[in-house]
Amino acid sequence: MKKDTKVPGFATTAIHVGQEPDPSTGAVAPPIFPTSTYVQEELGKHKGYEYSRVSNPTRTRLEQNLAALEGGASAHVFASGMAATVAVTQCFLKQGDHVICGHNVYGGVPRLFDQVIANYGVEFSYVDNSDLDAVKKAMRWNTRLLWIETPTNPLMVLSDIREIARIAHSRKAELVVDNTFMSPYFQRPIELGADMVMHSTTKFLNGHSDGLGGVIVGTKPHHAERLAFMQKAAGAILSPFECWLVLRGVKTLAVRMVKHDENGRVVADFLRKHKKVKKVLYPGFPDHPQYSLARRQMTGFGSMITFETGSLRNAKKMLAKVRVCTLGESLGGVETLISHPATMTHAALGEAGRKKIGLTDGMVRISVGIEDSQDIIADLDQALAAI
Ligand SMILES: Cc1ncc(COP(=O)(O)O)c(C=O)c1O
Repeated sequence: MKKDTKVPGFATTAIHVGQEPDPSTGAVAPPIFPTSTYVQEELGKHKGYEYSRVSNPTRTRLEQNLAALEGGASAHVFASGMAATVAVTQCFLKQGDHVICGHNVYGGVPRLFDQVIANYGVEFSYVDNSDLDAVKKAMRWNTRLLWIETPTNPLMVLSDIREIARIAHSRKAELVVDNTFMSPYFQRPIELGADMVMHSTTKFLNGHSDGLGGVIVGTKPHHAERLAFMQKAAGAILSPFECWLVLRGVKTLAVRMVKHDENGRVVADFLRKHKKVKKVLYPGFPDHPQYSLARRQMTGFGSMITFETGSLRNAKKMLAKVRVCTLGESLGGVETLISHPATMTHAALGEAGRKKIGLTDGMVRISVGIEDSQDIIADLDQALAAI
């Protein structure tokens, strides 16, 4: 089929949608509007903006951009990925509803669901969503939402978005996919049937580890209406400056993701051959149990890799030695970030919870950055020598 040349490519969309020069001055970079309110010519007569909790021009630009990048109809940004997650629960769940959540998602999500949202009479089931029969079995008459992450954090288990969307829709439930690990550059959940996409923009979308944020991309008018209302009603919005940081970050998303992926492949191969490393979890290996799904559902493998050092002691020893890799929580920055899920991102699951999903104390997660790959490898090599 002939390619429609009128449809702009991903990088062009990232650089141009919502990023148009400022019409009043010609400034090429989008302006930051640090204003709480807007002058009205007379009562009710204004230029579409009244108060910045409700809307702000810099935020509008970012929301247009992110909706376009994910192929959605709308996007609403919040103060963090978790604030965006809260907004979904506030907008689309009520007392008596049931939610199916992947059993191996970012630890903050079950913490929020079980310790906050469950208090309002919403029920949660945690399911291995790589097992479609388990997802089908978990569906109830009152299931309203399915919340998945693919690949999962940090075990790199994939779920079939298209099939899970079918299961959700067969019972009039909606599917939300946390697409933080892959970014819209490598995975497009809405094209596969997801109803909403969530991102911690803190990660690859921003890409520079200099701001928090979260977004919900919707596909239907009621998503846009409810989420805009929740921005106004609850107010957990992203500030104009942080919107601008993400607008700047996404301009290089395409080139960054290509380099993240390239370095990810090199580092995964290195780790796999290293004698001190017992196991490497990475969807780009042909013997990853879901390699064919990864090839079908994603257009790259990203740069998230988890590897087994054998024990907490070994993990501690090697993490104390890294120099190029930055030891810290988070992921998706230009710098290689290395972390220990059992004591950091997944501490809230507790020992039993971690054991249940196969997350060990010896596991180390790496978000491979875009430095020169030989420097990342040399650093990991010298750190692994400490074990
Ligand atoms: C996959 C994933 N989803 C959601 C979140 C939460 O995002 P934030 O830290 O921006 O609140 C994180 C944070 O680490 C994450 O890794």
